[in-house]
Amino acid sequence: MPGLLEIVNLVKKYKTLTAVDNISFSIPQGVCFGLLGPNGAGKTTTIEIIEDVISPTSGEILYKGKPRAASFREEVGIQFQKTELLSWLTIEETLKTFQSLYHKSSAIEDVIEMCQLNEIRAQYNDKVSGGQRQRLFLALALINDPDLLFLDEPSTGLDPQARHNLWDIILKIREQGKTIVLTTHYMEEAQKLCDDIAIMDHGKLIARGTPQELINTYCSDCVTDGLRAPNLEDVFIRMTGRGLRD
Ligand SMILES: Nc1ncnc2c1ncn2[C@@H]1O[C@H](COP(=O)(O)OP(=O)(O)OP(=O)(O)O)[C@@H](O)[C@H]1O
Ligand SMILES: [Mg+2]
Repeated sequence: MPGLLEIVNLVKKYKTLTAVDNISFSIPQGVCFGLLGPNGAGKTTTIEIIEDVISPTSGEILYKGKPRAASFREEVGIQFQKTELLSWLTIEETLKTFQSLYHKSSAIEDVIEMCQLNEIRAQYNDKVSGGQRQRLFLALALINDPDLLFLDEPSTGLDPQARHNLWDIILKIREQGKTIVLTTHYMEEAQKLCDDIAIMDHGKLIARGTPQELINTYCSDCVTDGLRAPNLEDVFIRMTGRGLRD
């Protein structure tokens, strides 16, 4: 069965650097799909091409079997890795401002409840904590009631409490039947949230499957401390090596 999204022979070159190097994969409907890779692997470049935020050097993206229409950006929710917010607006005013940009939208109250923003709805954007900021970014991505949600490193920089809390919210969103595409380099996050995974490095796709398939295929002989079974982090380190990537 063709995927909700088909990524076909995607290439993105920046002058001499090939950030995305001829990758093809398919994203099924209704899953939480994880695009994994170390720093600089090409995750943001890939997800932004799929979102139609930047254009590829070559290759094709098919959505429901066809090239994306102009309405694609209206229909999907996008949480960017970096977003600037207006410091003189409150959380609630920011949500209303974004809501007004769309024809179809979620009720503000629903989004506030889902993303646990009620207590800080009157707070100014520049006065929120890291965890609150990520919940606001998630709320903004949900404001047009999308069926397809893109999250670029949703929990990077958060403390363990805030990260686990955000995971619970993402799991609730998934239960609503939305398709989620997220990037991460936290393997615990991928293991907890993702049904289907692609691992990238140096712009190339190096592994693809469910978390358990990846562990079985690439790590059945991984040497662990003998006290635990191999996990996704063992797969990730085996596939991408131990060298620094910043
Ligand atoms: N606009 C740009 N111009 C030139 N090079 C770029 C540009 N955007 C990204 N790159 C380069 O492309 C490569 C892939 O970057 P990308 O941001 O896609 O990686 P990433 O996997 O998202 O990394 P991270 O985990 O750090 O977010 C990197 O070498 C990066 O420096
Ligand atoms: Mg990135």
